[in-house]
Amino acid sequence: MTSFISSTRGIPANAVVPRHVAVIMDGNGRWAKKRFMPRIAGHKQGLEAVRETVKSCIELGVEYLTLFAFSSENWRRPVEEVSMLMQLFMLALEREVAKLHQNGVRLKVIGDLSRFDDKLIRMIEQAEAKTSENTKLTLTIAANYGGRWDILQAVQTLLREKPEKALVFSEEDFAPYLSLHYAPEPDLFIRTGGEQRISNFLLWQLAYTELYFTDTLWPDFDRKALERAFDSFRQRERRFGRTSEQLKADA
Ligand code: IPE
Ligand code: IPE
Ligand code: MG
Repeated sequence: MTSFISSTRGIPANAVVPRHVAVIMDGNGRWAKKRFMPRIAGHKQGLEAVRETVKSCIELGVEYLTLFAFSSENWRRPVEEVSMLMQLFMLALEREVAKLHQNGVRLKVIGDLSRFDDKLIRMIEQAEAKTSENTKLTLTIAANYGGRWDILQAVQTLLREKPEKALVFSEEDFAPYLSLHYAPEPDLFIRTGGEQRISNFLLWQLAYTELYFTDTLWPDFDRKALERAFDSFRQRERRFGRTSEQLKADA
């Protein structure tokens, strides 16, 4: 298994273009409301923004893109909205996977899939298998995902597989069991829609990620908006606990 430098155990390399971008795609409902349309129309338009973002990330040289599509708390929404979101997810898999594959995208889905219906689970497995050898971009969709769920399932799996670690285990023992073990920690986190919170997204992995919040609603998030986020990222000084002087001395 590939392993990546942990931001708390070492110093990850600094890149001009973020290697891993993680996005909370928020604001679909408000986008629709502003247009006197049903919320689902906002989600549909949001899918267009996903397409454009994937394309831009490939062009800009991003290696990992992780999108929060449905949180473990989103089941609290009205049943009609939840069921329409599931249908949209299936439709998107049906329509997009061939094109993603052509473009060299490896698709991964993380989250507690046990609550999804069998048809959706099978579609996810097939899409992951079909694209597993692709190397251009790893696109991860977080669906029924929660950061706390992820940490708990990782601890539980670790203890099941290595009961001898029950009393003492290290970051290196634990990290391989997280859902995103195949990706480096995100360099850049983007949340659209104006809220400034993590909403139980990647709690472990965001330890040293640069956070970027924008009022742009997700369906309006385009190439320009992505480039603005990247511009902001480029101006950050990623110190990982060190002083600015130390960074300059190393450069
Ligand atoms: C994000 O948009 C998409 C999902 C959570 C599925 P919202 O549906 O949360 O849109 P707002 O926040 O109500 O505008
Ligand atoms: C976060 O958005 C989850 C996704 C975008 C999938 P929410 O709209 O559910 O977050 P809160 O409820 O405003 O924190
Ligand atoms: Mg929202």
